Amino acid sequence: MISKETIEQVLMRNDIETLIGSYVSLKRAGSNLKGLCPFHSEKTPSFTVYPADNSFYCFGCGAGGDAITFIRKRENLDYPDAVEFLAQRAGITIVRDERDQLARAPKFDRARMFKMNVDAAKYFNRCLFSDNPDAKAALSYFIEKRGLSVATIKHFGLGFAPNSFDSFSKYMLSKGYSFEELEAGFLCGKSDKGRYYDAFRNRIMFPIIDVSGNVIAFGGRVMDDSKPKYKNSSDTPVFKKSRNLFALNFARHHCSESIILCEGYMDVIALHSAGFENAVATLGTAITSEQARIMSRYTKKVIICYDSDEAGQKAAMRAVKMLTDVGLDVTILKVPGAKDPDEYIKANGADKFRHLLTQSKSRFEYNLENILSKYDINISQDKIKALHESEKLISETYSSAERDIYIQTISKLFAINAGSIKSDVDRLISRASYAKRKEESNKIKQDAVGYSDKVNPDFIKAPAVAKNEENLLGLLLLYPEHRKRVFDEGLVSADDFFTDLNRRIFEYLKNAYFNEGDSHYDVDECFSPDERGRMSRMKLSRMELSENGDAVLRDSIEKLKKSVSKKNNEKNNSIENLSKLIEQKRKS
Ligand code: GTP
Ligand code: MN
Repeated sequence: MISKETIEQVLMRNDIETLIGSYVSLKRAGSNLKGLCPFHSEKTPSFTVYPADNSFYCFGCGAGGDAITFIRKRENLDYPDAVEFLAQRAGITIVRDERDQLARAPKFDRARMFKMNVDAAKYFNRCLFSDNPDAKAALSYFIEKRGLSVATIKHFGLGFAPNSFDSFSKYMLSKGYSFEELEAGFLCGKSDKGRYYDAFRNRIMFPIIDVSGNVIAFGGRVMDDSKPKYKNSSDTPVFKKSRNLFALNFARHHCSESIILCEGYMDVIALHSAGFENAVATLGTAITSEQARIMSRYTKKVIICYDSDEAGQKAAMRAVKMLTDVGLDVTILKVPGAKDPDEYIKANGADKFRHLLTQSKSRFEYNLENILSKYDINISQDKIKALHESEKLISETYSSAERDIYIQTISKLFAINAGSIKSDVDRLISRASYAKRKEESNKIKQDAVGYSDKVNPDFIKAPAVAKNEENLLGLLLLYPEHRKRVFDEGLVSADDFFTDLNRRIFEYLKNAYFNEGDSHYDVDECFSPDERGRMSRMKLSRMELSENGDAVLRDSIEKLKKSVSKKNNEKNNSIENLSKLIEQKRKS
């Protein structure tokens, strides 16, 4: 257990405005600050920081809480690690009790995991250059088959995992690591019978290195056509694949102008060795909004250079959206006559690729080209189809100035009056915005009945009751004087609550009141970040109302008691029937 004094100190010494400001660019809005939410992708800021009570809340995705919640979510840490993270940031030393340290030591010592990964990377690298015939085959795969130089292999720390179930782990055990640690780091797997085995066998190895230079994970590729082609580390305590990019540790020194985003490790390696050291790749998954944001911290422009097959081009279109959403200037580069940039460079050389880079296309140009290649605009039926697709494309452009430019282009290209194109485009825009509003209002309606409530799954069983519980809890969270009345006079008990989450919140507040006289302590330990977000929402929705006094409190308590007795009296009431019906529907 971390002492309450320590947590209090950690929260006090980490000013929430500065802390969150180091992750999110915040603008002042009255006494609060606003910015783009780091937890979901959005264009208009709905993420708010409240310096007055050291909290944050996002109206878009419902994330909310205090500095500890923020770090838990943002850095993907559990509660004690988040406290430690913030303590370190504020220069506070935390003394954890011994038992706790022992229980947590193997899995969560980040420095030790980094060291373990470096030792693994060195082992794989030594194996690659060993005399063993398998290793010789691996080295010749890199050099002869993939055209890499020894210098490039060394630069990227590439390696080879021998074809054995235990050579690697035997070595690591001799270095003092345990199987538990190796498993936590995704270096060993465990069979159903409980036997550990090396996770990477007979694969060439790509270490993944973060921007601080820590080895955080590995990718391993087979050298033939067997499946799976790659085995990549899953997330571990020191690795989150959605928040890292391959080779950003090198690229960050060469990307003031642009970053080249590829799909494969081999693409990145080929580009770097041809002199394009601003290339990075995602880690075997589609690009995430977090990765987009990370890139936006290092550069202004991203050139997407994915595989030229259909899957690659589709993925490129999704990437354009992600990257544009965070404000980056984005172009797409399709390599002609090759399956990917690696193959292109090998066939055509660096100079050709450099020239190709200057011809990367904006989303509009890229799509327009595709449309024009599909249709023959000398045939009127085709011309109409091409025109409609182009108009739709323009209508999806956010900036109206940009739309105007594109309308001019299309007008000239199709020899059609710009005014009529514009009115078509405007109609498409209003149709889309109507559809969007409708979708949003449906979602709000669904949320209101708690249909999709994962944080408080009981909500759906009795929405009105749960709503009232939230009202009351909002009042208690917001005002110490209400807490005093309710708890001192015993006006409400835990049994008065119907939903489990709300009962837990009530019990927590009560315990905190009687034990500490304040409800702030260790709330992050008792509730998950999502539950903390819900608590913030309860508080905020009360804050927006002008009436929060005694009368409201009394009314709310009365309703709570009534709904409890009602539930006791008529067990099969209509709400429950309705909820069963909805449950059935959801299952079917
Ligand atoms: P080469 O085929 O050697 O050129 O590899 P590449 O690195 O260019 O890979 P490719 O374009 O096929 O795939 C892009 C990325 O997706 C790879 O770098 C891997 O991170 C990931 N990937 C590819 N195949 C698999 C697979 O079978 N499993 C997993 N988990 N990831 C894969
Ligand atoms: Mn490839």
